Amino acid sequence: MELNTKYMGHNIKYFDEINSTNVYAKQLIKEVKPPEGTLIWSDKQLQGKGRLGRTWASAANVGIWMSLILYPKLEPEKISPLTLVAGLAMCQSLREISGLNIKLKWPNDLVVNGKKICGILSEMIMLAEQEVAVVTGIGVNVNTKEFDTELAYATSLLLETGKQFNREVIISKFLSQFECLYEVYNKEGTFLSLRHEYENLCVNMDADVCIHIGDEKFLAKAVSLSDNGNLCVRYEDGRLEEVSSGEVSVRGVGNYV
Ligand code: BTN
Repeated sequence: MELNTKYMGHNIKYFDEINSTNVYAKQLIKEVKPPEGTLIWSDKQLQGKGRLGRTWASAANVGIWMSLILYPKLEPEKISPLTLVAGLAMCQSLREISGLNIKLKWPNDLVVNGKKICGILSEMIMLAEQEVAVVTGIGVNVNTKEFDTELAYATSLLLETGKQFNREVIISKFLSQFECLYEVYNKEGTFLSLRHEYENLCVNMDADVCIHIGDEKFLAKAVSLSDNGNLCVRYEDGRLEEVSSGEVSVRGVGNYV
């Protein structure tokens, strides 16, 4: 694969088939601590993991199922916005390559025409008291022709454009884009410089959202993003609150987006 990066993706471990690239990446960190920017990429996953304990459909040939290994110089509480950084980089890359109006659905999905095209699952491992490793797992539906009926809200680049896309071109573009944004975030430790770009591409801005926290649901309007990547929402009674990306899922009212 042709790469234009300083270190992202320079060490690649490719598999035809694997259980989950995230699970393998975590194992690798514990065993050998591979260099920053190591990319685990598999053509197929047998047990792809989604957020909140869900599974992630990862059939052969049709998608990008990959995980990046990172060692950010950040305090543990500044780690979860890395998911937003990866989402922003992938959103910009896919928009440029496909010409589609792909948007970010805070905190970890990319959507187009009301359907999900990409999901991100970041996992953190504590190496020492102030030293963390992060596995950022990304799934992109690229050339998928059809989804199981329970995935009615999923789509792919092929379904949206009628065209096939080269997965290596997407990965390479993403790695360059991500390297730039990651360096900004890692240096500044806040989302301040990236915030406006994220807000401009975020489907939730000024939209009614339903916030799911555990079994509870709250209706609110998303108004902005904070400097640490939290979603600022206004509840119906006028109360303002910041929602952090941890164990939250955000839905449109009545719809997926
Ligand atoms: C979600 O939207 O729930 C997150 C999906 C993340 C899927 C990717 S595919 C590559 C990596 N390995 C996994 O097992 N999961 C992530």
